[in-house]
Amino acid sequence: MSPSLDPVRYTLAAATADDRPAMGRLWVETWARTMPDIDFAERLPWLEGHLDRLAADGALIRVAAAEGGPVAGFVVIHPDTGYLDQLAVDPRFWGKGTAEALMAEARRLSPRLVALDVNQDNPRAVRFYEKMGLAIVSEGQNPMSGRRTFRMEWRGASLP
Ligand SMILES: CC(C)(COP(=O)(O)OP(=O)(O)OC[C@H]1O[C@@H](n2cnc3c(N)ncnc32)[C@H](O)[C@@H]1OP(=O)(O)O)[C@@H](O)C(=O)NCCC(=O)NCCS
Repeated sequence: MSPSLDPVRYTLAAATADDRPAMGRLWVETWARTMPDIDFAERLPWLEGHLDRLAADGALIRVAAAEGGPVAGFVVIHPDTGYLDQLAVDPRFWGKGTAEALMAEARRLSPRLVALDVNQDNPRAVRFYEKMGLAIVSEGQNPMSGRRTFRMEWRGASLP
């Protein structure tokens, strides 16, 4: 049988407590692939607390799942500030439209502004954001790691 050429379809949903183990696993895997010098499994408790704090502050956490499949990625964005704090896609879904679906959801939730900080030594992510129409607006430094960062933004049309 020839492989299907249909694009993968994703469902977007608010993250539930049941999604957290899969989110944690994919976060560790995707970051381990991106920055192999850092032990992200050790940082998992930080992520759990961080997501709880962000949600308590009003940020929205959305998961994408391929039809009938497991969680493929998640995004965290605050609808008031437009700040996208987390975007992570399971490496098995890299290049398969998951990240685009999550970015579309982020724009839907924050239609005027999507802003984020990305490490300058994360060229895959920088390229992805540029592809999605975000522009580099300034440079900075991650206060925890000391790594150089870009602030990137996408601005939607102003409402009349
Ligand atoms: C960032 C992330 C969400 C992007 O999702 P993705 O599915 O990998 O993105 P895509 O494949 O659609 O786009 C990546 C682009 O970078 C390109 N790319 C890959 N490696 C690259 C490199 N070393 N240098 C430059 N571009 C690169 C790809 O070719 C692709 O561009 P193209 O579509 O024009 O060919 C995902 O890779 C991820 O979860 N990474 C780990 C976590 C992370 O970095 N999160 C963002 C933190 S701000």
